[in-house]
Amino acid sequence: MCGIIAYSGHRPAVPVIIQGLKSLEYRGYDSSGLAFVHLNRIHLFRASGKLEALEARLDSGHVIHATSGIGHTRWATHGLPNEQNAHPHLDVNSDLALVHNGIIENFQELKDMLSGQGCTFRSETDTEVLVCLISFGLSQKGDLRQAVSWALSQVEGSYAFAMISRHHPGTVWAARQASPLIFGLGTGENFIASDIPAFLPFTRDVVFLEDNELVEMTPEKWTVFNARTLEPIEKKTQTISWDVQAARKGGYKHFMLKEIFEQPKVIRDCLAGRIQRHKNSISLPEIKDLPIPSRLHIIACGTSYHAGLWGKYLLEALAGIPVDVEIASEFRYKPLVPEKDKVYLTISQSGETADTLAALRLVREHGFPVLGLCNVVGSSLAREADHVIYTQAGPEISVASTKAMCSQLVLIFLLALYWAEKKRLLTGKDLENAITTLLSLPEALELELPDMRDRAASICKEYSNAQSFFFLGRGLFYPLALEGALKLKEISYIHAEGYAAGELKHGPIALIDPEFPTFAIAPCDGLLGKVKSNLKEIQARKGRIIALTQPGSGLMVDNEWKIPGQEGPASTFFILPALQLFAYETAVYLGKDVDQPRNLAKSVTVE
Ligand code: F6R
Repeated sequence: MCGIIAYSGHRPAVPVIIQGLKSLEYRGYDSSGLAFVHLNRIHLFRASGKLEALEARLDSGHVIHATSGIGHTRWATHGLPNEQNAHPHLDVNSDLALVHNGIIENFQELKDMLSGQGCTFRSETDTEVLVCLISFGLSQKGDLRQAVSWALSQVEGSYAFAMISRHHPGTVWAARQASPLIFGLGTGENFIASDIPAFLPFTRDVVFLEDNELVEMTPEKWTVFNARTLEPIEKKTQTISWDVQAARKGGYKHFMLKEIFEQPKVIRDCLAGRIQRHKNSISLPEIKDLPIPSRLHIIACGTSYHAGLWGKYLLEALAGIPVDVEIASEFRYKPLVPEKDKVYLTISQSGETADTLAALRLVREHGFPVLGLCNVVGSSLAREADHVIYTQAGPEISVASTKAMCSQLVLIFLLALYWAEKKRLLTGKDLENAITTLLSLPEALELELPDMRDRAASICKEYSNAQSFFFLGRGLFYPLALEGALKLKEISYIHAEGYAAGELKHGPIALIDPEFPTFAIAPCDGLLGKVKSNLKEIQARKGRIIALTQPGSGLMVDNEWKIPGQEGPASTFFILPALQLFAYETAVYLGKDVDQPRNLAKSVTVE
């Protein structure tokens, strides 16, 4: 989730690049850098921290001459946010400089191969491996375009990159695979960026690059090639009418909607490098030194707590590990009962939630190991936990958490499979099926999201007058019911309660009447029959029902909302966005401030 800008034109490039980087600041910052060619040499400037730190480093003597160059802002997904890891990275001869977003999954393999050829590395990054690979390709092929094409055929994973060469001042190469890259066309100048706002002050004419495309640009000319065959590709130019605010949101009306729609990519990024398809195995090197816990205690707040509750069902079912889940603000004020071999798992998007941090410190004072699941690299939680797994969801800007929860669930799923594999609780076939299902999710969800949004928008209108809502689910889907209720109340201000469906008859059902609707999560699993009975009890009291279900459920309710028929935990990754979209569309319909709901803060750093 970093930002890329590349420029080639008639203006001094560095101010254009700095301006571009500033406009990408909303994506989060922890280090930045830029490079350009002057006097047959690549000039490289990098700094950790805010962009001002980079600006302070720029040496004006050379900077004014450059009319092309590349820049990068880093929002670390792994690897510390320091200068050494900041982009651009150079090849071993300092002939090429490259900025990159994404994850090169087979970077270790490639690094070993290049080391065998005498290549040395200055950083730990996969990006340096990519630029060195291109350099190696150049030494073999003698032509840079061919070298890039060859290098890309060796690489597995996702990337968007831009590259310059000291031997070709004024030319920029760029390519993408599963990571956005947009080409901006000016007069006598051209741009490449990961997001449109980076060049919006200069041009509104854009070309959206697709996977497996390679672009070569100079101030006057640009060509898009098929990255494999190097055949030129005809591309359509589009004119963007968005203002800067809309462009930051990728054309979506709100950050929340953008982040909901980013979930397929989030799943892809979470899985990248963590599934070894050829070995039919899960790889989590972050916890290779952590013994398999005999008990796990999950501590978190809000949406992250719901992710933990969902995790309890999966970790117990797949990995046979008994799990307790507690709200951090409760946990921290109770006596801690020591239990041998217990591991504590703290979950937090921000890594700065005061209650979760206090719980983590308490546990560590008692000498128990803490595993942190966290989105923000270098956050307090990440620094203080004994082991940390980053969820790699990218900056979450909307106050209501959406894609962060999705990433937490993917990681918990992987954790459960990882420990189950270590304990030999799964057959090779089970693991293969789970891996195939996980890998198929991003594409399936991508296809489904637009229809889900339309369905949410049409159903919510019928219920927008409701004062209160129940959200019901059983098993794995009970925590999702809690999350559905939380999302609805926090952004639409409609009172909503999540319940385990079987619990309704123990009191809450007294509230049901025609004005008090229920949102039921009822996928076709072994508990569907039970949920059906619960819904009959509601219908007997004239309660209206929306049911999120799958084909063949045979449910007879007011609004049946069918999602794809994924089995078991995989259906979560369709149910969660449906709940998020229902809350989102309701809030929009009611005219609420979706991205900044009243009384809330993104990071709760107070008790
Ligand atoms: C709800 C929401 C909050 C957070 C909670 C914990 O949409 O965002 O409930 O989940 O404040 O925050 P983190 O995960 O940063 O510890």
